[in-house]
Formats: sequence, C-alpha cells, structure tokens
Amino acid sequence: MAEHTDYTPGAGSVYIRTFGCQMNEYDSQRMAGLLRMSGFKTVNDPEKADIIIINTCSIREKPEEKTYSDIGKYRSLKEEKPELIIVVSGCVAQQRGAEIIERFGYVDLVLGTNQINRIDDLLSEIKRNKRAIVQTDFCQNPYVRPFPRARDQYSGYVTIMQGCNNWCSYCIVPLVRGGELSRSSDEILSEIHRLTDEGVIEVTLLGQNVNSYRDPRDGITFSSLIDKVKRIEGIKRIRFTTSHPKDLSDELVDRYRDIDILCSHIHLPVQSGSNRILSSMNRGYTREQYLEKVRKLRCARPDISVTTDIIVGFPGETQDDFRQTLALMEEVVFDGAYSFKYSPRPGTRAASLTDNISSYEKDERLQILQDLQKKHTLARNNDAVNGIQEVLAVGSSAKDPLEITGRSRQNKVVNFKGARESVGTLVPVKIIKAKNNSLWGEAVG
Ligand code: SAH
Ligand code: SF4
Ligand code: F3S
Repeated sequence: MAEHTDYTPGAGSVYIRTFGCQMNEYDSQRMAGLLRMSGFKTVNDPEKADIIIINTCSIREKPEEKTYSDIGKYRSLKEEKPELIIVVSGCVAQQRGAEIIERFGYVDLVLGTNQINRIDDLLSEIKRNKRAIVQTDFCQNPYVRPFPRARDQYSGYVTIMQGCNNWCSYCIVPLVRGGELSRSSDEILSEIHRLTDEGVIEVTLLGQNVNSYRDPRDGITFSSLIDKVKRIEGIKRIRFTTSHPKDLSDELVDRYRDIDILCSHIHLPVQSGSNRILSSMNRGYTREQYLEKVRKLRCARPDISVTTDIIVGFPGETQDDFRQTLALMEEVVFDGAYSFKYSPRPGTRAASLTDNISSYEKDERLQILQDLQKKHTLARNNDAVNGIQEVLAVGSSAKDPLEITGRSRQNKVVNFKGARESVGTLVPVKIIKAKNNSLWGEAVG
C-alpha cells in the first residue's frame, strides 16, 4: 500500500494485510481511506504500525488457515507494545466472529464484511473503553461513506453490489457476505466521478455476480449501468468482474460489440466441464450453454480474452467428469484459469457430501489441468505477438526498473521499453515476445 503524507502528527499509523478477492482489496482501500481522513498514515511495515488490520478470506481452508497464522505472528508485537490495536476484518471475521477473540485473546476488533464503514468509530470506542469489540451485523447499505484513495492510482475498483444469492453448493460467500444487495447507480456514478478527479482512467466494477445488478431505485440493469459509466468524462476503460455464466445476458454481450472502452476481457468461471458436476454444484447452466455464451462473446468481440475458475475433485467427480473438464478447456482455449482443489466449507450444502477424492488424486488432477492451461495461456499470448496492444502504463516493471509495466485491454501484463512520462496514460505497444505470464514489447509512436 502506498504511503500517504497528508497526516495529522500524533494520530498514528496503520498497516493493512489483505487476503482474498478484489472485493477485499476494495474494502482495504476503504478502510485505509477512512482512516486517512481521521489523520492516520498507512505504512508498509507492521512493526511501525499502531494499528494492524488483517482483512481475511475464507473461500477455501487454506486462506482461512493463512489468516490464523498471520494473526499468530502479531502476538509478540502486541506483548512488546500493549497499546497496539489488532483488527481482524472480512470474511473469516464474519464467519467466526467471537471465536477469533476466544482463540487469539489479543485481538481488539473483529469487523464483519458489512461493518467496514464503521472502522474509525469502532477504533475510537475501543480506545475509550479499552474493551474488545465483535461487530458482525449485516446491514442495508454497507458502502455509504465516500473515502479518498491512495495517490498515483490510474485504475480503480468500485464495488457495485454486495453478497450473493446463488448458493453454489461449495461456496461460503453467501454466508459471509450476505444476500445480494445492489448499490444505487447514483452512488456508484458519483464514486467513479471522484475517482476520475483523483486521476483514475480505468474502472473495474466489482460484484460476486455483476450480471444480476439492479438499481434498487429505478431497476436499471448492469448493461445500462455500463452505458452510464461510459459517459463519464475521464473514464477511458471499463472492466468488470465476476460474471456468472447463467446470468450473462445477450444485452451484455452486445455491449462488447458496441462499446469500445469496455475492455476485451471477461472472467467467466466455468468450475467444471461435466454437466453432472455442474448440477451438483448448483451452477444453473450446462457445458453446452457455457460454450454457446463463449461463442457469442467471441462473435461480438473477436479478440476477447476469456479467463475462468475451475475446481477439481468436487465430491463425486469421476475420471470421466474430469476428462470432460479438460475437453471443455481444449474447446475454449482459455487465456488464463485459476484452478483450485475442492475444499469443504462449513455451512455449505456440499459440506454434507462425502469429500471422496483423495488429496493425492486432487493434486494429480490439478497438475494435469494446470499443465494444459499453461500451454493454452502461452498459445493465446503468442497470438498477440507482432500486433499492437493498448497498455495502461502504471509504473516501472518489477524485474527491470528501466522498463514500464501495465495491462493490455485483454488484461495481460505487458512490460515494455518506453518513456517514464507515459505512466498514467494509454500507450500503444508493439508486442515482440510472449512469455508464460506476460507480454514484452516496445512503445510505438
Ligand atoms: N463469484 C464468483 C466466484 C467467487 S469465489 C463466481 O461465481 O464465479 C472464486 C473462486 O473460488 C470460485 O470461482 C471457485 O472456483 C473457487 N471456490 C469457491 N469455493 C470453493 C471451494 N469450497 N473449494 C474450492 N474452490 C472454491
Ligand atoms: Fe459463490 Fe456461486 Fe455466489 Fe460465486 S456465484 S460467490 S461461486 S455462490
Ligand atoms: Fe474470499 Fe470473501 Fe472474496 S471469502 S474470495 S475475500 S468474498
């Protein structure tokens, strides 16, 4: 997180560690922004902080375990510095509530996913009363308060809806984020206006299922929201995530044909290529319907990059089901895929099914799938070679400070030789080389 200099001396400093998805990233930015407004400074070193916030994810067992080992790391810091405040926020906080304080007695605040807005008030209350607080209530508008972003950001997230109503049988999100709740388009648009005032030119609209967005006041759909966002002066790129295949409408597919500033990328999680498993996951579409949506998208926007999520080893997944997933991958040739071993989550429907695929078998399937995806990603990256890609330059490349880094419209990382002054702008880049996870080229013009 970038350091900020507008800081009232004496208010203190805050360190935030973020796990999980972009919605958590956005929530961390909100907490940082709200605390900056109360005079706090954000720092990159927990040892220099007066407040440590661990913003957590519970999507699988592994991230949940990471949360606990992270909280454990701060025990000795708290012993050295008893006035240090430790906050556990986000999805594990929502899921476990008071259990976190029972296990880690030195945690001061457990802040649920709908209570992020109240971070500053609750911290003041803790300082006043010297007592730990657990606040995990759900509420109707968890996003009302405007907040400032860190400087030097050219790309910004805006959460347009909270929660999810889909109840995929493996997924804990509806339990930890609550039911679907859309923000009003007025609120979203004014937030995007503020972003452009701060120098942002690319906006990513966030939700677990953006296609089912409905303005609570006038009922406008996600596609109409995009129409409004595109009219905001200063916005040069629009992205969104995540799109659920069952709700991806023709109306939205048309936007890829008609709106140039809508970037050529869609993240469309398929989860499995087997209809039997899709049905047991309660996904609400078949492999045929999924393939048809991809076909329509490619028709509307031929260079669209399609990425996905896949789970291996869901209860009852046979070798044949798994082969069907590989076959679907061969048919689509995804630009990228996040793949996961199934992990039973407390309170979900799938948790009552027998997790009958051994860990060894899950590892093996994951490896086969990832090897195949690696080939496909490289093949897709190779398609870009010799062409010109528009890149939003965001800073120096991590490996070579003389190079600039950014992302193409297809959401691929591009490192290129170009001028430092181009940072913060859209740069045409001739692609010379494709790598496994990025492209390399030279600025043109
Ligand atoms: N809302 C998004 C996904 C959010 S969670 C959607 O519906 O597509 C991100 C990914 O984590 C999911 O797409 C899924 O692939 C994976 N995931 C969720 N629960 C999981 C579980 N219990 N075990 C393994 N992977 C899981
Ligand atoms: Fe979870 Fe399914 Fe909702 Fe995505 S759509 S958050 S996978 S329940
Ligand atoms: Fe994780 Fe919560 Fe996001 S469970 S994936 S941080 S919604």
